[in-house]
Amino acid sequence: MRKYVIAGNWKMNMTPSQTKAFITELAPMVAGLDKCDIVLCVPYVDIATAVEAAKGTNIHVGAENVHFAESGAYTGEISAAMLKEIGTEYVVIGHSERRQYFGETDQTVNLRTKAALKAGLKVILCLGEVKEERLSGITNEVVRMQTKLDLADITADELKNVIIAYEPVWAIGTGLTATPDQADETCGVIRECIAELYGSEAAEEIIVQYGGSMNDGNAAELLAKANVDGGLIGGASLKTDKFTAIVKAANA
Ligand code: 13P
Repeated sequence: MRKYVIAGNWKMNMTPSQTKAFITELAPMVAGLDKCDIVLCVPYVDIATAVEAAKGTNIHVGAENVHFAESGAYTGEISAAMLKEIGTEYVVIGHSERRQYFGETDQTVNLRTKAALKAGLKVILCLGEVKEERLSGITNEVVRMQTKLDLADITADELKNVIIAYEPVWAIGTGLTATPDQADETCGVIRECIAELYGSEAAEEIIVQYGGSMNDGNAAELLAKANVDGGLIGGASLKTDKFTAIVKAANA
């Protein structure tokens, strides 16, 4: 029986003081809503504040990226050990905005995932097709290829700390949402691919989230689908009331 994971991805939003105010407001609103795990993935500079504000609550804190090297001459980058030491539990890897704007490839996604897992972080691995791929009818091939490449050389044991977020790129920040059936079908394709790679038990256990304009209005019907185990939420995770409504939908 899989437990929902509702995760916010704040992207480049919120300062440390805003982070403190947000979590202080959110914590009592989501207290006791324990049928799902609640995660906020926040900008690096907000992590320490978020961890402190979330102490004693059911809110977990994640980062939005991590470098793949343990240390070294990588000006401006942040290592998994650095994240771990300040109390980070999760990290988003391979978000389409990083693939689109910052040269992220399946190979670097794979390297980052390995480094994060080795350091004891839980990974929210993002993948999904672009609009032209969906229109060309190759969505299944695209997500299967990404799943295989992004998880290359990751063991079945390590996979227990991986969540996959299926995020159709055309649905991110656009207000366009995959229909519940589209989300269910493609999350199911990813799960089948996991079964081929790791066996049916691993496929039954892995959390596959949907992300892309999930909000308080559509969360319930997306989460009702058998293959959708939660959400990775951008815009709607920046408002305590909207985010709480999604958490409640996962607790209904
Ligand atoms: P939106 O919810 O703003 O569409 O963003 C989704 C997303 O990219 C989460 O990672």
